[in-house]
Amino acid sequence: MAEDFDPARLSADKRGRYGELADEVASVLDGEPNITARMATVSSMLHHAFDAFFWTGFYVVDPDKGDELMVGPYQGTLGCLRIPFGRGVCGAAAAERRTVIVEDVDAFPGHIACDSRSKSEIVTPVFDAAGRLIAVFDVDSDRPAAFDEIDAQGIETILRRVFGQ
Ligand code: SME
Repeated sequence: MAEDFDPARLSADKRGRYGELADEVASVLDGEPNITARMATVSSMLHHAFDAFFWTGFYVVDPDKGDELMVGPYQGTLGCLRIPFGRGVCGAAAAERRTVIVEDVDAFPGHIACDSRSKSEIVTPVFDAAGRLIAVFDVDSDRPAAFDEIDAQGIETILRRVFGQ
């Protein structure tokens, strides 16, 4: 019912859910050093934690090229394979080394449409313990404006804990 809608409560729930997830992911990955296993686990656990997540996964920096991303572990429909730095939302996040939130993908210059059902997107850079960019983590939603600062902080915290120090 409309009177039940309370944006402040929803925000608190979402922040709390990210906090729980951070602990759950850390617990599952305890003792597992392999980076592919870590990326696959993060993709699956985040994808299934939120109804709004339609495509959830990693684009990894190609070590042979240095300025190109290639698709890594993900959940969702077929993702495009390679994205040069600077192209699309993923390429922007990699080139600028910051989280990029896009409320309306059709309004983002150069957005790469892997699936036309994607309406909004958040991409977060992934750094290793030495501070090197190793990947970006991309979440697409089939809902417009699905992501905000709570998602950015929640995702950044989980990625720092899993791949950083
Ligand atoms: N939309 C992304 C490309 C990756 S897919 O959505 C899975 C972008 O513009 O970078």
